[in-house]
Amino acid sequence: MNIQIALCPSEIHRFRLQPLQNVTSVVFDVLRATSSIVTGLAAGVEAFVPMETIEEAIARKKSAPSFLLAGEREGVAPPGFDLGNSPREFLNVAGRCVLMTTTNGTVAIKSVAGSAQVLIGALLNIEALAALLLRRRPEHLLLVCSGTHEDFSLEDAIAAGALVRRLTASEELSDAAKLVRELYERAKNDLEDWLRRTQNGQALSRIGKELDIRDCARSSCYDAVGELRGETIVRVE
Ligand code: MLT
Repeated sequence: MNIQIALCPSEIHRFRLQPLQNVTSVVFDVLRATSSIVTGLAAGVEAFVPMETIEEAIARKKSAPSFLLAGEREGVAPPGFDLGNSPREFLNVAGRCVLMTTTNGTVAIKSVAGSAQVLIGALLNIEALAALLLRRRPEHLLLVCSGTHEDFSLEDAIAAGALVRRLTASEELSDAAKLVRELYERAKNDLEDWLRRTQNGQALSRIGKELDIRDCARSSCYDAVGELRGETIVRVE
């Protein structure tokens, strides 16, 4: 398995310009978009529809009024939205479809939508994700670290490293894959503390969302993996 890593938004953009039709992409936005999607799918949310902009999501809601509007800008739900982007908010909306727009996570998902497969990753489902990939054995794997605005995010790289660690012990890894694997080895025994000290973790603490950090730092507590099918993310059966 050839593993490439897009470490930040400018690298996602670079990969987006390359042919992705033979690539399986796994998107990580640990704090918090992909953690929320995984939590929601595990709790019975029927589907998430990732959207890049607030305007697009609001327009879509007009033609699908039963859908919930969820997401964040600067960490909080935009005015008029039904839900924000805290994993806990998706525990009690089983059976619903959710239109979701976030600063980086949903944008990253849309960026690699041309991949052969797009899977949704988090620390929360890392074992299930690894097991699925070991079954499917894609030849080319791209781990997408969504980042924050234009910047690298440590928590996404830690999760990418957790997946690399579970997929291969091979020394034939790219330098970026080795880097994230080593990072995960350093962080794995205290994920919550590492996440709390990231820039995103500190920003969430400043707006009173410390609980989200704890919720996103749990390792392998769900066996749900999301997959983008067309424009919709559903749980892989
Ligand atoms: C994002 O997509 O940028 C994040 O999930 C941001 C957040 O939840 O605060």
